[in-house]
Amino acid sequence: MTAERELSEAPGRALLAWYDRHQRQLPWRLSRSEAGQGLHPDPYRVWLSEIMLQQTTVTAVKPYYDKFLAQWPNVEALAAAETDEIMRAWAGLGYYSRARNLKKCADMLVDRHDGEFPNTEAELKKLPGIGDYTAAAIAAIAFGRPAAVVDGNVERVMSRFAGVETPLPAAKPEIKKLVEAILPAERPGDFAQAMMDLGATICTPRRPSCILCPLTGDCIARRQGAQERFPLKAPKAEKPLRRGAAFVAVREDGAVLLRRRPETGLLGGMCEVPTTAWNARQDGREDITAAPFTADWQDCGTARHVFTHFALQLSVYKALVGNDMAAVGGWWSPCDVLHGEALPSVMKKAIETAIPGATKRKREKAAK
Ligand code: ADE
Repeated sequence: MTAERELSEAPGRALLAWYDRHQRQLPWRLSRSEAGQGLHPDPYRVWLSEIMLQQTTVTAVKPYYDKFLAQWPNVEALAAAETDEIMRAWAGLGYYSRARNLKKCADMLVDRHDGEFPNTEAELKKLPGIGDYTAAAIAAIAFGRPAAVVDGNVERVMSRFAGVETPLPAAKPEIKKLVEAILPAERPGDFAQAMMDLGATICTPRRPSCILCPLTGDCIARRQGAQERFPLKAPKAEKPLRRGAAFVAVREDGAVLLRRRPETGLLGGMCEVPTTAWNARQDGREDITAAPFTADWQDCGTARHVFTHFALQLSVYKALVGNDMAAVGGWWSPCDVLHGEALPSVMKKAIETAIPGATKRKREKAAK
């Protein structure tokens, strides 16, 4: 073996040996004995978990993943589901276009691919909702393709290991090349997940446990004693503030007036209480005068939510109305089903500001 090859293969070997002993047991992974037989996990499970893991932490994803898998164990089952059911099961994970794309992707797989995932990055990227990251993850983990899978954990590990001085996000292509340079030909899926596990458990953002790290000997950040300086980040622009008003109409029987947001755009197809437009210029109506109908609207305070590109401040108003009130532009959601509606977090916050506890699942009454 040439010295150069030895140098490029050593980190991958060390990482895989570490992974064999310390990998996290996660519901979308094979057991150690299955993996030891050279099997690969089901692409459907890899896809589902990877889409969810782009939203939040492993701990938060687990119950959603279990619920989805129990309800829709394969692509065919998911394709047969109503988009609305999927949106309801997704509620709370955020970024709802991902949930809509899950359904579109399942439909396309069933219609055009016999329900099978294609096994190359290029073909995977043609599917709805599958971008560079997800295509690489599925190709490597489910099909053993030598794809460089780079998420936030991997960026941190690699930028420390190689001492990358370019700030993120500009450093992304450089980091990808560095990962490709040490990617082992054998077990690329395990290598990808080993990098992720290392980033999540050892090479953490604060106070990394370098003493336990299989890459510590060659890590440039460690040598400099400057682990937490990496990855360098370009300063974040402050998020612009938008304002609006939300109107929570409650019938005497406790039902709340909901309507559906347009299919496209932010939170597309999700449920909401009537709101004004969310105005960045703050020159539109965002107060009680913008109410959808005349009623005794009471000011309940403010609900705040931060989206990827802006922060939102909603003035929340509530009115009690009669049971015979028509559902203007929407429907009345009875109080015992409200928790199951496809309400995005911002709308849950608005409703909770008006009616504390309304979006939480009601406990069954104890049997007498
Ligand atoms: N984060 C994203 N994908 C992951 C995976 N497959 N294992 C652990 N953490 C992850």
